[in-house]
Amino acid sequence: MKTGNKLTIGLFGFGVVGQGIYEVLQQPLTLQATIKKICIKEPGKKREAPAELFTTDYEALLSDPEINVIVELINDADEAYKIVTAALRNGKAVVTANKKMVAENLAQLLQLQKQYATPFLYEAAVCGSIPIIRNLEEYYDNDLLKSICGIVNGSTNYILTKMIDEKLSYQKALQGAQNLGFAETDPSLDVLGIDAVNKLTILLAHAYGVVTHPANLLHIGINKLDPYDAKNAEEKGYVIKLVAQAVKLSNGKIAAFVLPYYIDKSSQLYAVKNEFNGVVIQSTFADKQFIYGKGAGRYPTSSAVLSDISALRYGYRYEYRKMNSSTEITDDFYLRIYCSFETIDDIILKDFEWLEEFYSQEARQYLTGVIHFKKLIEAGWLKKESVSIIVCPDGVIEDVGFRKAKKLSLQLAGSHFTEKTSETVSNLPKELLSI
Ligand SMILES: NC(=O)c1ccc[n+]([C@@H]2O[C@H](COP(=O)([O-])OP(=O)(O)OC[C@H]3O[C@@H](n4cnc5c(N)ncnc54)[C@H](OP(=O)(O)O)[C@@H]3O)[C@@H](O)[C@H]2O)c1
Repeated sequence: MKTGNKLTIGLFGFGVVGQGIYEVLQQPLTLQATIKKICIKEPGKKREAPAELFTTDYEALLSDPEINVIVELINDADEAYKIVTAALRNGKAVVTANKKMVAENLAQLLQLQKQYATPFLYEAAVCGSIPIIRNLEEYYDNDLLKSICGIVNGSTNYILTKMIDEKLSYQKALQGAQNLGFAETDPSLDVLGIDAVNKLTILLAHAYGVVTHPANLLHIGINKLDPYDAKNAEEKGYVIKLVAQAVKLSNGKIAAFVLPYYIDKSSQLYAVKNEFNGVVIQSTFADKQFIYGKGAGRYPTSSAVLSDISALRYGYRYEYRKMNSSTEITDDFYLRIYCSFETIDDIILKDFEWLEEFYSQEARQYLTGVIHFKKLIEAGWLKKESVSIIVCPDGVIEDVGFRKAKKLSLQLAGSHFTEKTSETVSNLPKELLSI
């Protein structure tokens, strides 16, 4: 697509985001972009737009030579992949918000972009209105980027905020997220951490040039968190957030996962509440930078879609320059985690490198300890309904700092868990102390 081209759009989907971008493009904008046709699934639905715009025929958009941009905003990743790949093959620029489709097919989509030299933009797929992809793509050099740590899923953040601030049950909080239109059509995508890991997959490509599949990344959602976990977090002065993290280790490899995380007051993520998203980017010289904004919803998401459409005017496309580096993902590091379970038999203590704390409270038991990440991935006990885990602050521990980290973590245990620690570490059952 050449600079200055008039943008004639074929829009797929007229739901929360599709209708949003339609409304936004009706505003008086300097951008010369018009929607020629809208493809939807159910022809009988009442729509807030002229009836002649709508069709259920993909080809009416994909084969129209006047349409030079396809904006794909449907809620079916498999169909979206068919639409997007056909559009790229037909030489049409594509804008999408479909993180599942992008993350699961990243390698093939990269290949198609190369082959057909067509722009393919998806800023709205990660963190709604926050311009995270273009920032990682353009601004942060791979060598200097130490970590990205983000709340990237608005629904789970809304649920956790309601569970902690208003003491709502998980079910009530989820219902609230659904009523407000934050949750995905299938809410399990949110609460099991699948949506977040899809976004992490996309971020890894732009942050570090790593192309992987979401199935290769450990992700645990918030569905198993117990009300006591929230209460314990509060007592320690933490909040619980579902965090997508990628950390560059000193050997240049990347530790990456989506897990519930204890966030302390010193973190910028502490104040990210409800449907908001926030990402802390740490780089060698700039230190920490924080981007914050609405991660979901009709207009915030439409704003990112609009920005991508607008960028097509000047022929913008992702260059994926960092893919020339040989950066890879590793599972060779340690995590300091809090683990809660019904009885000690629910977990395998020998999997832990060391333990720092153990205590019982009403019907549940808890421990804090350090575990090798590979052991955690392979732990069958982690899949049990009765077991939940939360990563402790600064929970990624590198092999090189192992002994130092052990000392440090014991000190931290002393300061963070003062009352309970002195009693609990020394009160660990004998079999725990001997592992
Ligand atoms: N909602 C958000 O806040 C948000 C934020 C970021 C990204 N996203 C992403 O944006 C995309 C759209 O989400 P949404 O919330 O707008 O979904 P939605 O409200 O459920 O709307 C989905 C739309 O897709 C249409 N559709 C489904 N299958 C189709 C097919 N095979 N052909 C043509 N149209 C089809 C539906 O048609 P009918 O109207 O006929 O049923 C509907 O208009 C998803 O990929 C989502 O992950 C959403």
